[in-house]
Amino acid sequence: MTSAKLWGGRFTGATDPLMDAFNASIHFDKRLFEADVLGSQAYAKALARIGIITSQEQDLLVNGLETVLNEWQTNIFVIQPGDEDIHTANERRLGELVGNVAGKLHTGRSRNDQVATDFRIWARDESKKLLIYVKQLISATVERAEKEIDVIMPGYTHLQRAQPIRWSHWLLCYAWSWQADAQRLEEIIDRMNVLPLGSGALAGNPFNIDRELLAKELGFKNVIQNSLYGVSDRDFVAELLFWASLTMIHISRFSEDLIIYSSGEFGFVTLSDAYSTGSSLMPQKKNPDSCELLRGKSGRVFGQMSGFFMTYKGIPSTYNKDLQEDKEPLFDAVDTLAGSLQITTGVLSTLTIHPENMKKSLSIDMLATDVAEYLVRKGVPFRETHHIAGAAVRTAEEHGCTMDKLELSDFQQLHPAFSQDITEIWNFEKSIENRSSLGGTSRATVLEQIHKLKEWLNIN
Ligand code: ARG
Repeated sequence: MTSAKLWGGRFTGATDPLMDAFNASIHFDKRLFEADVLGSQAYAKALARIGIITSQEQDLLVNGLETVLNEWQTNIFVIQPGDEDIHTANERRLGELVGNVAGKLHTGRSRNDQVATDFRIWARDESKKLLIYVKQLISATVERAEKEIDVIMPGYTHLQRAQPIRWSHWLLCYAWSWQADAQRLEEIIDRMNVLPLGSGALAGNPFNIDRELLAKELGFKNVIQNSLYGVSDRDFVAELLFWASLTMIHISRFSEDLIIYSSGEFGFVTLSDAYSTGSSLMPQKKNPDSCELLRGKSGRVFGQMSGFFMTYKGIPSTYNKDLQEDKEPLFDAVDTLAGSLQITTGVLSTLTIHPENMKKSLSIDMLATDVAEYLVRKGVPFRETHHIAGAAVRTAEEHGCTMDKLELSDFQQLHPAFSQDITEIWNFEKSIENRSSLGGTSRATVLEQIHKLKEWLNIN
């Protein structure tokens, strides 16, 4: 029935039922129910302020909207066939509750500035929850790094054993990525927190509505300064989807490391039973499904981002219905991040480490750089020492032994600067402690990182 539609005035024919279903967004945008009610309550107050409605009418609307909110919260709101989206559904229900005065609520407002407002409120509030999850993840990482600072392991480049590092140093690498994610999210929240309401359909509000008041009521830090921008901008959706994608990439790389480290070949870590599953066929298997799902879901979130970017790129100025396609990608990305961040925290804080296996994987050739540095300390230019250390590795290979088993004379044949103290090089712990410049893997510099992250997290 076209006449039942809020925008039905100029239409004579009925909408194809398929088109009705195609056009409707209520089945997903009902998630915005609370933001929509809050936006409308603020708008009712602003209308009363400029005398479009009386203060009794304001109370009627605000209280009626409170009932609508309550119905959603208690799961008794009944969606009717004509309810195209959350905005029309709430207004229809308000009319049933308070009568004709409900028809005054939309004065000077359009669903265009309404939906932009609702979605910003929702995205802002959900982002704040995600920020808490990111901080919990960082704090779990820092806690573990502090407790296990003595554990040493091979560090890798190209997935080849490179140099010995502290396990905590590896953990904190991710903590720093996540800290950057948290800081980015704070900036995105700040940037999105501006008010579109009062932009009207596109050209602005004709009743001199007090937009500063609306912003204050709804917790926005500022008012959007151009009504066309107000109804058409969805950069906050784009930014959040990018943020979600990048954060998932960090989670995915962390997961990939754990999948490798938990394999039988490495045996560095064992995931707790709470985050692993067995095989239906092979009784011995314990699979790192949590990490594989985290890695897999990073692809899903990136897909939501790329899908939305494609929708967003060709839209002519101001509101076009394409913009309705902004919600499902962000809903899905936010849900995926909320789950992934909490699961990552769980995986990280419950896994068991096997320091003896990490130690066993350290090999003397990983100290070749230390041999080169030894000669540097004796005044030999690094480019030469790099060569000489390489030759020492080769000599050991030729002798079928490790470098630490070579004679002093073998070394001295490579360069006269070698002396008896070369034997002190064959110590992984010492190699680690040598990397004590800011950001290195020595105990002091790892503790420094822990201190800085704790300070940022506000933990003492
Ligand atoms: N459901 C719509 C959306 O999500 C609300 C805005 C509709 N505006 C319009 N002019 N048809 O974008």
